[in-house]
Amino acid sequence: MLKDKNIILGITGSIAAYKAAYIIRALVKKGAKVQVVITPAGKEFITPLTLSTLSRNPVISEFFSNRDGTWNSHVDLGLWSDAMLIAPATAATIGKMANGIADNMLITTYLSCKAPVFVAPAMDLDMFAHPTTQENLDRLRSFGNHIIEPSEGELASHLIGKGRMEEPDVIIQRLEDFFVGQQELSKKKVLITAGPTYEKIDPVRFIGNYSSGKMGFALAEVCAQKGAEVTLIAGPVSLSVHHPNIRRIDVESAEEMYQQAVKLFPETDAAILCAAVADYRPQEQAEEKIKREATGEIALHLVPNKDIAAALGKMKKKNQIVAGFALETQDAVAHAQEKLQRKNFDFIVLNTLTDEGAGFKHDTNKVTIIDKQGIIKDYPLKQKQTVALDIVNKLTELLV
Ligand code: C5P
Repeated sequence: MLKDKNIILGITGSIAAYKAAYIIRALVKKGAKVQVVITPAGKEFITPLTLSTLSRNPVISEFFSNRDGTWNSHVDLGLWSDAMLIAPATAATIGKMANGIADNMLITTYLSCKAPVFVAPAMDLDMFAHPTTQENLDRLRSFGNHIIEPSEGELASHLIGKGRMEEPDVIIQRLEDFFVGQQELSKKKVLITAGPTYEKIDPVRFIGNYSSGKMGFALAEVCAQKGAEVTLIAGPVSLSVHHPNIRRIDVESAEEMYQQAVKLFPETDAAILCAAVADYRPQEQAEEKIKREATGEIALHLVPNKDIAAALGKMKKKNQIVAGFALETQDAVAHAQEKLQRKNFDFIVLNTLTDEGAGFKHDTNKVTIIDKQGIIKDYPLKQKQTVALDIVNKLTELLV
């Protein structure tokens, strides 16, 4: 899978930089073309001579060559690459990446890179556990970067804990898996609904809910990374999409979401209905802002919205897959199974609000996937990006 792939290897100032030599050797052996970009601190740990010999390419470190003034174009490099791997990635580099501090060639290359980026952190256990580092890593994940978690073990400080850069063969495997995965959903069209809906009361007020859209947006990114053409129907959220294969359609109300979903569904291979659609809307929408002084006590009369999931479940053809979500507070599995049947889903993703860190607004989620064959699989608490991968793997299993 790595044959003829163009890989930028970013190396930063960590003792684990010696492992970069093994990474280059393995990449080159597998037929990849490797361009090393090293930070000034990285050169204190491993020499450019070693790296250029192994990669068969001059190593880039500065914006231009001191010898002849040749400009190293980070833009060209970013466009050339099929993947960028930063291994080892120090806390400083991770912080700069998370905040766009483009003061060296590695960070400018990262910012110019349109290809997937893999980050393999390496640092002392306390630095890794620090909320600053964790928050920066979360930011990188939210931008669609792939974090290769460090393992636990003895560190350069002789302390034992989590912070050791993952071994080169594991890192290479992650890259290979990614390139295999990139084709799994190619030529497939996936429709995803995400976020809350807002149901207008008057021009300035609405009925909404706490859904952040993070789960649906993560699903869209993962499907696109696996080669699918994704249409994301998004309720009002403050998130952005990153992958070029995601077409985003913004809607506000359940009715608007319904109209888009039923229009687009016949063209798609699969739909994942992740949106927290309001079940009711006010029957009347006031044309002018409702004034407290004028009205005193008021009653809102609510009427039911259309169930998008049930509608698509009914429209579903033999070769189409529909997956939905359930959020239950009691008898969760039984209710989810009932919902799976009633809405004609192929599988349902259950999350319970009672689990710490799961559900609305959080970056983590804990789910159970139940399919129509009755197979029930529990997953541990994970980052929403990783949960998205589990869900999309289930979809892939049924779709291809
Ligand atoms: O019935 P309930 O709202 O619990 O069902 C949740 C599932 O149905 C989710 O997949 C959600 O996106 C979908 N749904 C929908 N349209 C509605 C209500 C729920 O698509 N009006």
